Amino acid sequence: MGTEPTERTAGTAGTERIGKVCIVGASGKLGQYMVRHALDRGYEVVGVCRERSVPKLAALADRITIVPGQTDDPEVIRRAVDGCDGVLTVLVPWGVRQYSSGTAQAVLDHARPGARLIFSCGWHITRDGKDKYSRLFTTTLKVVTWAAKLVRAAEIDDQVEACRRVFASDTRWTVVRGSTLEEGESQGLPVWSRHVGDPILASDRTRRVDYALFMVEALTDDLLVQEAPAIVGCKTPSALAAAS
Ligand SMILES: NC(=O)c1ccc[n+]([C@@H]2O[C@H](COP(=O)([O-])OP(=O)(O)OC[C@H]3O[C@@H](n4cnc5c(N)ncnc54)[C@H](OP(=O)(O)O)[C@@H]3O)[C@@H](O)[C@H]2O)c1
Repeated sequence: MGTEPTERTAGTAGTERIGKVCIVGASGKLGQYMVRHALDRGYEVVGVCRERSVPKLAALADRITIVPGQTDDPEVIRRAVDGCDGVLTVLVPWGVRQYSSGTAQAVLDHARPGARLIFSCGWHITRDGKDKYSRLFTTTLKVVTWAAKLVRAAEIDDQVEACRRVFASDTRWTVVRGSTLEEGESQGLPVWSRHVGDPILASDRTRRVDYALFMVEALTDDLLVQEAPAIVGCKTPSALAAAS
């Protein structure tokens, strides 16, 4: 591992054939972009979202199957992932009810053996403890984790637990760690590195549409199996500097 390059572009063709995918959290911003990328590739798409959010998928409703329900409900996930070759899961820390870890667990328990499982999260997740964070980042994370829990808005440490369970599983997982996101036209497939703090990631910006592109491309990229890539936009100054 130590001699391998740590800065890469994704997109190497994988061996797994993907026909049907499930997108857990399909109604959110990242989820909707992923639905469109998956449809563009000709995949059959099943989307899971909260019942109240089904109208957000109205524009796509005639092209996908929607399974309404809480994403941490094992029965909802069992039905949704049935027959899927890949599952793309938006892990979010909202509420104080272990929503993130419940969602990850339901996917790990019910996806078919051998399915590609792709999860989203932020740079704050570390797989091996070798990420290097600025003092500002660490302090802000501590304050936000504490304050969000205090007002019962979000449980960031439960997103950490969700990823811990994914890392410990023997499934064909990838945890895609997003930088700060922005809206805008696609710039192309983001580049990645194994550790936050690597120079290629310094710009800390990715277009949300391209984050979704990376998630969907990861389905067929065997280099990303059991990896936790931290990504950054391919046209950002740090990515361009690394490329040159
Ligand atoms: N925002 C950033 O700058 C950033 C940076 C790095 C990584 N990320 C990662 O990117 C992913 C997507 O984040 P995003 O910020 O772009 O948001 P997003 O795509 O809009 O997704 C938000 C998701 O959270 C759900 N949600 C919202 N409120 C909820 C609640 N109270 N209970 C349960 N579910 C709720 C939404 O479902 P409904 O449609 O039902 O509301 C939606 O599926 C996440 O994994 C995040 O960790 C984000």
